[in-house]
Formats: sequence, C-alpha cells, structure tokens
Amino acid sequence: MKIKVITKSAEETMLLAEKFGQSIIKPCVISLEGDLSAGKTTFAKGFAKGIGIDDVVTSPTFTILNEYESGRINLYHFDMYRLGGLDEAFALGFEEYFNKDNLKGIVLVEWASNVEGLLPDKHYKIIFLKISDEKRQIIISCETTKQT
Ligand SMILES: Nc1ncnc2c1ncn2[C@@H]1O[C@H](COP(=O)(O)OP(=O)(O)OP(=O)(O)O)[C@@H](O)[C@H]1O
Ligand SMILES: [Mg+2]
Repeated sequence: MKIKVITKSAEETMLLAEKFGQSIIKPCVISLEGDLSAGKTTFAKGFAKGIGIDDVVTSPTFTILNEYESGRINLYHFDMYRLGGLDEAFALGFEEYFNKDNLKGIVLVEWASNVEGLLPDKHYKIIFLKISDEKRQIIISCETTKQT
C-alpha cells in the first residue's frame, strides 16, 4: 500500500490525518518522517481527532512522550528529536511501547529515525515533504521487513 497526497494547508493535512485515524482499528506503530515544520505534529493533531480524542494535542518536544487515553484507542505520541539514540530510549523504558506482541495502543512517532531499532518490522511510515510554505507532499506506506 502506498498513498501519495498533496495538501495545500495545515487544515487539509489535519483532515487527511483525521480520516486516516478513523480507518485505524488496531494498535500499530506509525513513524512520521520529515524536516522541521514539515507537518508531523499537525498530522498528529488531526489523527488524534480521528480516533476520538477531544483533548488539545501539543508537540511532545520537551516531554518526548504525550499519552492520551480518552479516545476509542490509546494514543502514545512521541517526538524523538531530542533523544540521543537507542541507548537513551532503553534507559527511559520506551521499548515497552514498541513490543509488537503487546502494543498498548497507537504509537505515533516523530523523528523515529533517531530510534530506528525500536520500530517493529511491520509499521506505517508517513513521509512529509515541504514543497512550499503551505504545500506538503505526504506519502503513507505500510512497511514490512522483507524476507530473504
Ligand atoms: N499543508 C500543510 N500541512 C501541514 N502543516 C502546514 C501546511 N501548510 C503550512 N503548515 C504549517 O507548517 C507548520 C508545521 O508544523 P508542525 O509542528 O506540524 O511540524 P513538525 O513536522 O511537527 O515539526 P518538528 O520537526 O519541529 O516537530 C505549522 O505551522 C503549520 O501551520
Ligand atoms: Mg513536531
């Protein structure tokens, strides 16, 4: 599966994310990749709405993890930007959120590339590319580690 979309405003990105959120029924890991201001947190806001969370969703820039338990499924929103790497993730006990056999909800991860080893083989990957001030290209795909 690969979906490629262009959005022309933050609102459009939120609407896309909301629809994607509505379609998610099972716990899963979703990595959000793209430069600063590419739209990852904006997507997270719409996504949260899509899974029935009414709380204000803010960037976990400083807390690294924000948890929301008021939707129809739990949401764990990470921002790994400030994380040094895998060692730090383990030191903070984050691996329990990425256990593919026991996911506690939806795990939405900004800057997942900083902790690549944590991601389960199967996860969604969403890439944000800034085309102009208001335009973003968003590519949603389902990743599985290839069997050799
Ligand atoms: N089409 C668009 N989609 C998403 N955001 C947009 C779009 N057009 C403009 N914006 C603006 O771009 C900014 C995106 O910021 P956002 O915090 O979502 O980025 P981010 O990828 O989470 O950055 P960071 O890596 O710093 O966490 C917001 O100010 C938003 O209003
Ligand atoms: Mg962000």
